[in-house]
Amino acid sequence: MRTPILAGNWKMYKTVGEAVELVEGLLAGLEHGAAGREVVVCPPFTALYPLSALLAETPIALGAQDMYPEVQGAFTGAISPVMLKDVGCRYVIIGHSERRQLFGETDESVNRKLKAALAHGLKPIMCVGESKPQRDSGQAEPVVVGQVRAGLEGLTAEQMQSLVIAYEPIWAIGTGDTATPADAQAMHAAIRATLVELYGSEVAEGLRLQYGGSVKPDNIDELMAQPDIDGALVGGAALKADSFLRIVKFQ
Ligand code: 13P
Repeated sequence: MRTPILAGNWKMYKTVGEAVELVEGLLAGLEHGAAGREVVVCPPFTALYPLSALLAETPIALGAQDMYPEVQGAFTGAISPVMLKDVGCRYVIIGHSERRQLFGETDESVNRKLKAALAHGLKPIMCVGESKPQRDSGQAEPVVVGQVRAGLEGLTAEQMQSLVIAYEPIWAIGTGDTATPADAQAMHAAIRATLVELYGSEVAEGLRLQYGGSVKPDNIDELMAQPDIDGALVGGAALKADSFLRIVKFQ
């Protein structure tokens, strides 16, 4: 049984004060716990420390949106996995398409970051997804499967137990244009089949696959009803307590 994992990727939104306010709203809505769901918020770096105190001993885990794959050193502007652990992060998003498109991330840098995150006890959420032209030309599945294979290069079956994979079609991010539940399910099944091939069925069946891209209160139930969708990585709809709580409480 895979525990559903609902994560909010806040991207470059929320000052410290706004972040505290949002988390207080979420905690109020989850005062009776999260009923067998895992809930994660990934605020900007600046809000991690103040939120970690608020989130201690609550049903909400803390995650970061990126990290640099070194422990420390002369890497101006970068944040290390050790620093993320130190401020209470349990998760870290790796290889989001915005990082790939705007900050030059590649499958190779994603692979390095996954290894560094795992080496320091963080659970990575590895993002994969195709662009609109890739989907329109029938390349969606080979592109995504290729990202999965390259990103996971050299990872052991044991390390895979700490990993989450998020399928986020680029054309669905921030557009209101969600993949249909059937299309998302088909890609998740292809990812899981690749994991079976790489690691065997026990590891593949235990690994959680999130869908991301215009997840909203009005489409979460249908998405979560798909057999290979085990959670969501939510952008815009995670920025308001009401909508994220409705997503967490999917039926
Ligand atoms: P939206 O939910 O705003 O489409 O963003 C999805 C996303 O990129 C989450 O990582």
